[in-house]
Amino acid sequence: MPSSVLARLPPGSVRLVAAFGLLLLVSLLVLGRRRPPGPVARTSNGGSRVFDPAALFLSLSAGANATIKADLRALTAGPHLAGTPAAAGPVAHVLGRFRAAGLRTLTREYAPLLSYPGNASSLSLLRADGSFLARLSLEEPADVGGRGGLVRPYHAYAPSGAAVAEAVFVNLGREEDYAALDKLGVGVRGRIALARRGGGYRGAVVARAAEKGAVAVLIAGRADGGVERGVVMLGGPGDPLTPGWAATVGAERLGFDNEAVKRRFPTIPSMPVPAETAAAIIRSLGGPAVPAEWKVGLGVDAGGLGPGPTLVNFTYQEDRKFEMIRDIFGIIKGSEEPDRYVILGNHRDAWTYGAVDPNSGTAALLNIAQRLGKMLQSGWKPRRSIILCSWDAEEFGMIGSTEWVEENLADLHLKAVAYLNVDCAVQGVGFFAGSTPQLDKLLVDVTRQVKDPDVMGKMVHDTWNEMNGGISIERLARTDSDFAPFVHHAGIPSMDLYYGQEFSGYHTALDSYSWMEKHGDPLFLRHLAITEIWGLLALRLADDPVLPFDYQDYASQLLEHRNGLSFLLGNSQAVNVMNGSIDDLFGAAMEALKEAKKLQQLDLYDEHARMRRRLLNDRLLLAERSFLQAEGLEGRRWFKHLLYSPPEDYESKLSFFPGIADAISRSGNLSAKEREAAIQHEVWKVSRAIQRAASVLRGDFNQQNKPSNFSSLVTP
Ligand SMILES: *[C@@H]1O[C@H](CO)[C@@H](O)[C@H](O)[C@H]1NC(C)=O
Ligand SMILES: *[C@@H]1O[C@H](CO)[C@@H](O)[C@H](O)[C@H]1NC(C)=O
Ligand SMILES: *[C@@H]1O[C@H](CO)[C@@H](O)[C@H](O)[C@H]1NC(C)=O
Repeated sequence: MPSSVLARLPPGSVRLVAAFGLLLLVSLLVLGRRRPPGPVARTSNGGSRVFDPAALFLSLSAGANATIKADLRALTAGPHLAGTPAAAGPVAHVLGRFRAAGLRTLTREYAPLLSYPGNASSLSLLRADGSFLARLSLEEPADVGGRGGLVRPYHAYAPSGAAVAEAVFVNLGREEDYAALDKLGVGVRGRIALARRGGGYRGAVVARAAEKGAVAVLIAGRADGGVERGVVMLGGPGDPLTPGWAATVGAERLGFDNEAVKRRFPTIPSMPVPAETAAAIIRSLGGPAVPAEWKVGLGVDAGGLGPGPTLVNFTYQEDRKFEMIRDIFGIIKGSEEPDRYVILGNHRDAWTYGAVDPNSGTAALLNIAQRLGKMLQSGWKPRRSIILCSWDAEEFGMIGSTEWVEENLADLHLKAVAYLNVDCAVQGVGFFAGSTPQLDKLLVDVTRQVKDPDVMGKMVHDTWNEMNGGISIERLARTDSDFAPFVHHAGIPSMDLYYGQEFSGYHTALDSYSWMEKHGDPLFLRHLAITEIWGLLALRLADDPVLPFDYQDYASQLLEHRNGLSFLLGNSQAVNVMNGSIDDLFGAAMEALKEAKKLQQLDLYDEHARMRRRLLNDRLLLAERSFLQAEGLEGRRWFKHLLYSPPEDYESKLSFFPGIADAISRSGNLSAKEREAAIQHEVWKVSRAIQRAASVLRGDFNQQNKPSNFSSLVTP
């Protein structure tokens, strides 16, 4: 209700009646709504103003696409790779916009180990006798549109090295590709592996080639595009020298001879190369013919798989150094629960101009900041604190976010309600989302309130639902954006949102403002949709008196995972130990939902009701932490989430229960009995974690003294 209504009250005796009427209306508004009501600001004259934060937020959408567009243009005016002087431009822009919105700002600096290309990289083709044949380009094709100042295509953390060797074309560089080569009698030992992009994480492609004995790896870009830069670090996110603590200046750093540190870096040099260059090498190769389906996207017509007869002469020089990175925060203090944090994050650093990756998300974040600023001016205040984060050095392995999470872990464990991530906000058509399952319902709800950017008259929910035969929400076991430390290390309910998939200019010079304006989102309406979804999610999480978490959805998802695992193992016995704990989580979730309903009927300002809500909310927010294993996964201590950390084996068929996935992939040399025991132990761990979550959610000690299968215990 706008405040102008108060100003228009009639004078004299009528005023009293009108004031009563207003009070009644306000009470009806507060009590009669099914959605938890927005906060009520008490005004000085005793009247009340009711805010519907969602309506207020959406009312600020007019013209927002133009603002987002202008911000994107400013952010992408030049390249801004982390740790370089050019990174200062977007830092100033983001700080300026947070300040203009009236938010409290904070900058946190870290000095991680970063990795850049040195001066001495080269690639050439030699005849079998070692004589020079041709120099090969390592640069992006000129027509890709790069201007000056872009970092040359390279792999961050690839070690310096040189190799003169025969090349073998290994297709995507997956296990199955090496198996196929093996059948043809082609091996990579002592040779240079040439792969085309698309075989999953490039660091894994390099590590696998090294394991097979290759001396270097070249990864080809797309024939229709640029050359893909990227990180090849292994073993998880964050600064490689400060695993588990923050890389502040003066902090402890592990040495390069530390075994854990050594495992973070590939052992052989690697480099992304233009498709042209890859095609030239393949054309020079003999050996078995290249299968037709291996040529996709390379524009190659002749040649073989190798090895030889030509030689490839490859040199790479890495420039490894400590550089300063900057995380920027815009903070709105909660009015009732300032010690509860709703965290929104997006990274700012880019391989090139970053119009898609990541500044489409930054522009959306800045628009949210602006709107929240206007809402604050109108008298609204969030119940809980909202923290907007602009991360640095994500492209080097989620370093900015990981260092901050590590530095503030204890605080976050206690206070973080949820983390909402947007990286590449827009790279094409169609809404996509990943989430921890207790947030599913909230996400689906919110998409019903946001207009579809591409289909007139529809909501995002409708088109999302129609896209792939029903709404599908991914789980967050990937390690490719800033939700990773929040989920895998800290156990914080999280989400990841984006429009479009498979951007052809990913990590290349094509990722520019002009691409976005021409192809990605000409009217900036997809940007607008993401901004609205992201903002509304934040407002629900910050303002709902009872947190909008649904653990029944979590239990359902776990039941599906259990069935998936049982199918994979071909053995339902092994997974049966989970049944009781999943059932228990279902029960606890149902009770929590009932309690939430009851609490929603109570007076918003009653002290007792307030305390009861706080108690329930604490259980809702701490339940996710129960999935953490304090000492981490076996042999991978940093990863603590037993349901959603990435499996160690990049080709694992299991994208959940990472401890079980690891036990399966490590069981190659074990006897059947040992294998079964190793897997069973990990299944028990998951089961206990789910049981912990059920107990936390229920808020009481487990009271079942008699296990139903007591008789099955055999005296040892
Ligand atoms: C590369 O060359 C530039 C200019 O000659 C020089 O300043 C820089 O130190 C060199 N970098 C390395 C890693 O050698
Ligand atoms: C390989 O390339 C490097 C760098 O260009 C050059 O110094 C070296 O002589 C070359 N090796 C052979 C065998 O041609
Ligand atoms: C913003 O969207 C409207 C349609 O809602 C469109 O007419 C306008 O051109 C867009 N503005 C920009 C700057 O693209």
